[in-house]
Amino acid sequence: MKYDFDTVIERKGTSCFKYDGLKEVYGRDDLIPLWIADMDFQIAPQIKAAMQERLNHGIFGYNQRLPIYYDTIINWTKKRYGYEPQEDWIMTSPGIMPAINLAVMQLTEPGDSVLIQTPVYQPFFTAATAHNRKLVTNPLLPDNGYYTIDFDDFEKKLKEVKLFILCSPHNPVGRRWNKDELLKIGTLCHQYNVPIISDEIHCDLIYNGAGSLSIASLEGMLDNTIVCFSPAKSFNLAGLATSVIIAKNPDLREPLNTMLENLHIYMGNTFGITALTAAYGDSEDWLEELLIYLQDNRDFLVDYIQSEIPQLKISTPEATYLAWIDFRNLGLNDEELQKFLVEKAGLALEPGIKYGIEGSGFQRLNFGCPRKTLSTALVRLKKAINEL
Ligand SMILES: Cc1ncc(COP(=O)(O)O)c(C=O)c1O
Repeated sequence: MKYDFDTVIERKGTSCFKYDGLKEVYGRDDLIPLWIADMDFQIAPQIKAAMQERLNHGIFGYNQRLPIYYDTIINWTKKRYGYEPQEDWIMTSPGIMPAINLAVMQLTEPGDSVLIQTPVYQPFFTAATAHNRKLVTNPLLPDNGYYTIDFDDFEKKLKEVKLFILCSPHNPVGRRWNKDELLKIGTLCHQYNVPIISDEIHCDLIYNGAGSLSIASLEGMLDNTIVCFSPAKSFNLAGLATSVIIAKNPDLREPLNTMLENLHIYMGNTFGITALTAAYGDSEDWLEELLIYLQDNRDFLVDYIQSEIPQLKISTPEATYLAWIDFRNLGLNDEELQKFLVEKAGLALEPGIKYGIEGSGFQRLNFGCPRKTLSTALVRLKKAINEL
């Protein structure tokens, strides 16, 4: 491999939440952190060099997003996601969650309902409830760990909501929604006049060569969709808080754009813009190697759990570096399970209950780390479970 994903790099003391926030969140800081979704790898050298060059300039005033920024996004979208946005459809936001919150505030009224598919990334819940919107859920259907959409329920729920937040690929269940599923989602949303905000933050992280699949690439779907993506997950740049929001339809775009401008959060930050441009413009080969490494980690994790810790259940994620593990056979409630993982296994995982009631008894494990970290964690987990 040209790039190094094996070296374990000390992250403590860098103001990183994953390590430096352990004590605050888990009560102790000697745990192996496989929780919050960033990776323990250094970024692509191409991105580091671009940031270094920008740093050397030494002046960091307000930003203008130059044509190269837009061209890079358009080329990446065309090549990797299969559709071609125009420059004026593209907005910049400090993150995907700020954009989703603003979309809820701008496209719905207090008291309206917002639809999500649970279990799902926890901030989707508060994106509705924090703004006095009602939350309506379309629980996913698990079949031996593989989740699909209950379309009868989805259609029923669409009749009562004003906005649908799609997680594609899905965090935490690791599904890459396929073309049929996305077409059905898009067609039903169009039929019931419910706009979609498609959170595609994990869309570069697809395994077995299946490739990214955006709902926006399907015929007619972009008219009713706001798409959000960024290099935060795939290029490990979450701390640079720079995300891309695409809306073709002015009725969806203008309310959002106005709010981003009014709040003065549309300019991007200097290093975020530099890094995004270097990531999408110059670092695709790094991403391809990362995917090989992550897929090996994923397979190692799934094999290990299936062969060494058969008390647990795991299905192979199609996307993301997050695994959704079923601990229900241990017979512990959520509180006991959390205590057990922290105190006996020395691990910080994300409690599944955070993702909705359907996540009770599950934990989400982040395998975006050197193999050594992952294998040490799994050995600890096996030992603790055997001693239970
Ligand atoms: C599905 C999903 N959406 C959004 C985010 C956060 O995005 P941002 O930091 O750009 O707000 C995450 C982070 O884990 C995520 O998993």
